[in-house]
Amino acid sequence: MSWIQDKAKASLERVRTAQKNQVYPYFRSFDSGGLHTSIDGKPIVNFSSNDYLGLTTHPKVKEAAAKAVERYSCGLSSSRVQATTTAHIELEERLATWFGYERCLLFTTGYQAMVGTIMSLADRDTTLILDNLSHACILDGTFLAAGTPKMAPEVRFFNHNSARSLERVLRTRDRKHALVLIEGIYSLDGDEANIAQFVEVCARYEHSVIVCDDAHGTGTLGKGGRGILEKYELRSKVPVVISTFSKTFGGIGGILLGDADVVDHIKHNARSFLFSASLPVPLVAAAGEILTMLEQDGEAMVAELQEKANYMRQGLKEIGFDLGESNTHIMPVMCREERKALFTHVALLESGVLMVPITYPAVKEGEERLRLNVTRGHTKEDMDKALELLATYGKAFFVLSGEPLETLS
Ligand SMILES: Cc1ncc(COP(=O)(O)O)c(C=O)c1O
Repeated sequence: MSWIQDKAKASLERVRTAQKNQVYPYFRSFDSGGLHTSIDGKPIVNFSSNDYLGLTTHPKVKEAAAKAVERYSCGLSSSRVQATTTAHIELEERLATWFGYERCLLFTTGYQAMVGTIMSLADRDTTLILDNLSHACILDGTFLAAGTPKMAPEVRFFNHNSARSLERVLRTRDRKHALVLIEGIYSLDGDEANIAQFVEVCARYEHSVIVCDDAHGTGTLGKGGRGILEKYELRSKVPVVISTFSKTFGGIGGILLGDADVVDHIKHNARSFLFSASLPVPLVAAAGEILTMLEQDGEAMVAELQEKANYMRQGLKEIGFDLGESNTHIMPVMCREERKALFTHVALLESGVLMVPITYPAVKEGEERLRLNVTRGHTKEDMDKALELLATYGKAFFVLSGEPLETLS
């Protein structure tokens, strides 16, 4: 065996054990798209989806994508530098107007948008300042910048969502410029950023700029779904926003928003933009159709989502679940033990409800949970069924009592 086979075998030990015990929860294959789908022919309601407004499978969205396939097919065979269409430009202009920024640039994924933005802005004079629960795209962009010859920004972390901790880092940083990287809603914990406090702290420190990844706030917070900055009227204080089409906007694609010069600087420097294929036009068309729906009806759709999220939250609290720090439609059901999360997941799935477990290393040991997202596409019946099953299995696997699972005889 070569060393790479040895390495693979060693790293897969946990995976192979879980597969052998039939509790391996990842990469399950759906028979179709949508929140109501099936696995191996068995119907399931998906509560781990990020299709927050339930628009991904809307007939108009599919129709728009199909029309774009006819005209442009599925790929443009190059990067945006030589494969930009009028459809890209038109959607960029519409998104900039809708979000209220001067300029928008579409990347092929949100991950690439963040990595490219960090890599374009960081240098020797920069301290990159990160929340310690940052998404992988922020971590990866940061470490790529830190490891790039001649770039070498300082990297500092602050305690999750703590303005005091952020201030300590701003005060003691090494470099002249600070780039503070936060998220509108934290994807595994479902808590909103303390954005007003962050803005207030940064205003007291010269040369500090906030970049906000609002992947989960887009379509769920603020007027008509314009996100966390709209909700707290702080758009003018946060010059760079990143979002995605992979949640509310029904496909894939990365969104960068900012003023014209900053966005154009990133456009001409971000290697994840310049050296990766252009976003396929069917995805541009699908997102454009969803934008039209948000323009026309966003307020009502977001209100419906919030109403459903409140219903589920109340139901979960009444049963007695620990939802961590969540105050949004993302509600982690804290299990705090890997086997509890795996067993509850399998039992729920057998009964037609999908909630994917999140385990170490995605979260710390002792913080294992089920990922539960309420979306506008879930019905009251879906939520009632999930609540009833969660009450049963939460008790059976000691999630509710908090006793260790070893005591299960
Ligand atoms: C907070 C956050 N940022 C960025 C991304 C990446 O977005 P995309 O799926 O468009 O690459 C995600 C998606 O998982 C996310 O949760």
